Amino acid sequence: MTQVTGMAPQIRSAQIREGRDCQLARLVPPDVICVEAIGEGDDAGLGPAEVLTGATPRRRREFALGRRCAHLAMMRLGRIDMPIPMGTSREPIWPAGLVGSITHCEGYCAAAIGMRDRLVAIGIDAEPNDALPSGLLDLIARDEEQSWLREQRHAGIRWDRLLFSAKESIYKAWFPVARR
Ligand SMILES: CC(C)(COP(=O)(O)OP(=O)(O)OC[C@H]1O[C@@H](n2cnc3c(N)ncnc32)[C@H](O)[C@@H]1OP(=O)(O)O)[C@@H](O)C(=O)NCCC(=O)NCCS
Repeated sequence: MTQVTGMAPQIRSAQIREGRDCQLARLVPPDVICVEAIGEGDDAGLGPAEVLTGATPRRRREFALGRRCAHLAMMRLGRIDMPIPMGTSREPIWPAGLVGSITHCEGYCAAAIGMRDRLVAIGIDAEPNDALPSGLLDLIARDEEQSWLREQRHAGIRWDRLLFSAKESIYKAWFPVARR
């Protein structure tokens, strides 16, 4: 775990994890480069193509931290650091030749990036290991999925949240390909 000082001195209160220290890296194929940040960071350090206007300070911080993780991952991939603007459906617009995904939740943020000639798309999603808000499961899970959830026995895992997170990941991978 390294304090963010050299590559991104403007993110003072977040710690960056990459390589073998990065938990997310254990979940993805080896040719996907992941960088994750623990903490909040701040909203400085992005170029004009990545400025969020009209957002709350908290939203600006999470947006900036996600972008910084993505920029670090891009450089780890051996690519020139380029802006990652936001598309019309909030999706990150990756530089030519790259695919990737960004996620954040309370105190955690991550980006995963790979080469387009090897990967069609990437989707990642981080969620707290808490029960879903009341009523949400009925909106996101079919009856058979809910039956399956009730059969799961591993203590300590919120399976409803895990299913939700899996679907969010798939959405993020699928959207840039299908635009829906
Ligand atoms: C877009 C969505 C997936 C974001 O997920 P979330 O858990 O709210 O938030 P996360 O922090 O994990 O992810 C946010 C990041 O996703 C990325 N993202 C947003 N919209 C996206 C899209 N259309 N395609 C790909 N990635 C997208 C962005 O990088 C965003 O962060 P940024 O704005 O700071 O760059 C979610 O809000 C959404 O709209 N889901 C669609 C509904 C759906 O079909 N879900 C699946 C079934 S439950």
